[in-house]
Amino acid sequence: MKILLYGSGGREHALYEALLKSPLVGFNDIYFAQTGAFAPCRVIEFCDYFELAKKAKNIGIELLIVGPEVPLAGGICDIFSSFNIPVIGANKYWAQLESSKSFAKDFMQKFNIKTAKYTLADDICKIDSALSKFSAPPVIKADGLAGGKGVYLPETFGEAREAAKEFLCGKFGESSKKIILEQRLFGRELSVFSLWDGKALKSFKPACDFKKLSDNDEGENTGGMGSAFPCSLSDFEEKEINSYLLKLEYALKTSRADFCGVIYSGLMMCSDGAYVLEYNMRFGDPEIQSVLDNFCGDILDVFLKMVDGKLDEIDFKFKDEPSYCVVLASCGYPFSPQTGCEIFNLEAAKKYGVRVLFAGVKKIGQKYYTNGGRVLNLVKSGKDALADIYAAASEIEFEGKIYRKDIKLR
Ligand code: AMP
Ligand code: GLY
Repeated sequence: MKILLYGSGGREHALYEALLKSPLVGFNDIYFAQTGAFAPCRVIEFCDYFELAKKAKNIGIELLIVGPEVPLAGGICDIFSSFNIPVIGANKYWAQLESSKSFAKDFMQKFNIKTAKYTLADDICKIDSALSKFSAPPVIKADGLAGGKGVYLPETFGEAREAAKEFLCGKFGESSKKIILEQRLFGRELSVFSLWDGKALKSFKPACDFKKLSDNDEGENTGGMGSAFPCSLSDFEEKEINSYLLKLEYALKTSRADFCGVIYSGLMMCSDGAYVLEYNMRFGDPEIQSVLDNFCGDILDVFLKMVDGKLDEIDFKFKDEPSYCVVLASCGYPFSPQTGCEIFNLEAAKKYGVRVLFAGVKKIGQKYYTNGGRVLNLVKSGKDALADIYAAASEIEFEGKIYRKDIKLR
């Protein structure tokens, strides 16, 4: 069957390789909406999602799988659905769980889902009154999408005030014309990916994402510098997560959430339970890279069951060993990464049995160049996988290479 995969980064490279394992697709059956270094062919050119859907229909695409958040928020799934092309991805309404933090907060409040206390502000004159509601400096968040950069964790009220001002003055354009000030929580973070087919919710075990740029969780917040799957959980954590997921399923059922896609709950495990920090309506990058490496089964079969409304027939199976992903990034990430540097010795990964996924890579002729902040994802499963990943990481070379040396299960 013909599939259109939207997205061109490490997450989509992982999805692409997972899809190719399915007997239902051949190498030439997967089409793309963006050019990734892993998939230079079968790219459908388009000006808008309507044109893309029209071309997809003509080619005979039978399933759209959407990787990133922007097309979801832009309504790509609604448009494909109107062409009767099945989709894996939230419609525009439900994409708001990610694209509007205030929408997500309303949803959580309505269904009594634990989340940090918050207040909204859309006017610089109201910042001080908003800040006065907190006994410690609150986290400042842009309401809308900001490419993973729209969250600031101030240490002082002064910093919080400055950040709130900058956000409201348009630091993230329209996305930060409204902001959320949120109580700061402390605990360990977990990513839980759930699939929803309009009737049932099925979740993977939690994965951990290493969000900070540097070892020991120091430095800037990033999109994620590595991941490990599955996380080990205490009995308390397991119970809390299960009860949260039941609430989420109840909330989606009660709301008659009419989409077929992914819900990623960013959780913080606090002493009194699991709090939702954020919802994303897509797989997390780079968590899904290690989750898919661990997944035993046919992910396409799962997606097809979802579009048939038969998700409840599926039981997920995973390896009984852990999986890891280490991100090789380019210096300057996350703000202004250096790009255009040639990548050498990619074949080193082979001798360690490590998979290399292209996150921010450009292929010119037979050569590969850095083309983004997160450049490569090194992925492997097994008890000793980390040693192999790190051996490959030290041998693959490009100017400005940076990576965390402390990715592990936690
Ligand atoms: P978000 O995009 O809302 O997930 O925020 C990005 C990152 O900021 C999260 O992964 C956390 O590390 C941190 N963060 C967000 N909200 C809070 C909070 N209320 N308390 C502490 N850290 C937070
Ligand atoms: N790894 C976090 C994200 O995908 O947003």
